[in-house]
Amino acid sequence: MPPTPAPSVHGSDACLSALRDRLPAAAVLAGDEIPARNLQDTSYIRPVRPLAVVRPDTPGDIAAAVGICAAHRVAMVPQGGLTGLAGGGHPIAGAVMISLERFSGIEELDADAATMTVRAGTPLEVIQRAADDAGFFVALDLGARGSCQIGGNLSTNAGGNRVIRYGMAREMVLGLEYVLADGTLVTGLNKMMKNNTGYDLKQLVMGSEGTLGIITRAVLRLHPKPGCTHAALCGVDSYDGVVKLLAAARRGLGPMLSAFEVMWPDYWHEATVSVKGVRAPITGPHAFYVLVEMQGLDETIDGARFMSWIEAAFEDGIISDATVSQSMGDVAAFWRTRDAAGEFGTVLGPHCAFDIGLPLRAMDDFATTCRARLLAEVPNALSVYYGHVGDGNIHIVALSRGADIQPTDAISGIVYDTVRQFHGTVSAEHGIGLLKKKYLGYTRTPEELDLMRRLKRALDPLHLLNPGKVIDIAETAT
Ligand code: FAD
Ligand code: LAC
Ligand code: ZN
Repeated sequence: MPPTPAPSVHGSDACLSALRDRLPAAAVLAGDEIPARNLQDTSYIRPVRPLAVVRPDTPGDIAAAVGICAAHRVAMVPQGGLTGLAGGGHPIAGAVMISLERFSGIEELDADAATMTVRAGTPLEVIQRAADDAGFFVALDLGARGSCQIGGNLSTNAGGNRVIRYGMAREMVLGLEYVLADGTLVTGLNKMMKNNTGYDLKQLVMGSEGTLGIITRAVLRLHPKPGCTHAALCGVDSYDGVVKLLAAARRGLGPMLSAFEVMWPDYWHEATVSVKGVRAPITGPHAFYVLVEMQGLDETIDGARFMSWIEAAFEDGIISDATVSQSMGDVAAFWRTRDAAGEFGTVLGPHCAFDIGLPLRAMDDFATTCRARLLAEVPNALSVYYGHVGDGNIHIVALSRGADIQPTDAISGIVYDTVRQFHGTVSAEHGIGLLKKKYLGYTRTPEELDLMRRLKRALDPLHLLNPGKVIDIAETAT
């Protein structure tokens, strides 16, 4: 186990009173003042009551809070919108939650440079709207857009719906400000596209899930607002057809291809029948349902190009049916079949959520094998498959129907064992957090794991920043 310092009750009390002395009253919540929402994230791990939640509203106060916790050897957990699915933001008993919720807002939108400087606690959707109002487009989009914060997005290096065109979250960041485990505030709010001056330090913090630094502000790259957006919901009869459709989309739509999402029939059923209010834009049954989206420049030219591309896919026998959007309302309706996954917690109850990555060709064989193993080994198993196939990433929602307590270990063991069999990755976008820690070695080599531990020790020698998340530092390479 990691050498996480366990502060004495006296140390905790002293830390709390130092935090109260330094920060405004509204910024420090302890005991019964701690809101229920801060006791867990979206990973279905049992709620945990921490020592306190602090909610500073300036970078200086965030750094001061971290410095005080470090001086008292009290562990800290950064918390954003708490939509994380891997347990990274889950509280630790005796630790202080550093919540970014009160450090929210857009500091600058520079239309000439096409950049936006944002505070870490800003909800993603607020950033998307502000960019849209100014004629720009933010590359990142995901189902939790209304609740997740940009700081959480960057610390998990979130993926989402448009990675195929714009890349993962880290690729939209030009500059970053963050607080290290000892309370040092590092301000690197670079706005230049090219800045090759030594180590790219921000890349270490992004994707570290709050274990190497607490993100306070970021400079984001903006893109021009698309001139037109078109989408099609396609029925495809075989997985070979899905692979051919992706190749055809890459060829025919080039860089305008902005999403390629695939839904297996088990997912489609839950999304369009179990989730209320989601209309199926295409009648089935089909072996696969594929949402293809294109962002073009010019409605006349690119709208016609999309239509002729889809007609060609139909004539070539790649798709057996398709509904093509006639309006932005249709595009939104198509995406509702995909965003319906966000309702599975309500519709299916507690479940295990996976974000695995696989070689493109292996995905359907993986799904068949994984489904069969879950059915054979987990009582009343239900598993549904869907996701960002164009990025080599699928999601699985799996559960034992009717179980009071989900057999999380059994389900995860089967899924990750099958991932290993098909040479995939245990996380393509949600991160490792707590839930995937013991499977990290399925995807990373002993030397890589050892280097991760060396970095963690160098930046957080007292092991105070989100300890026990992502990787345990005490283990040696095996
Ligand atoms: P939190 O859950 O609060 O925290 C996540 C991690 O980041 C934790 O380790 C936490 O300690 C750390 N953290 C939070 N804020 C900071 C900060 N300022 N500095 C340092 N560390 C910090 N993820 C995807 O990648 N792609 C998707 O398509 C996607 N879709 C989703 C759809 C739904 C319906 C839901 C519920 C989740 C989805 N997610 C997806 C997962 C989740 O929304 C993302 O991981 C998101 O980026 C987390 O942001 P958050 O603000 O909620 O972070
Ligand atoms: C999605 C989340 C679960 O893509 O990552 O729906
Ligand atoms: Zn996803």
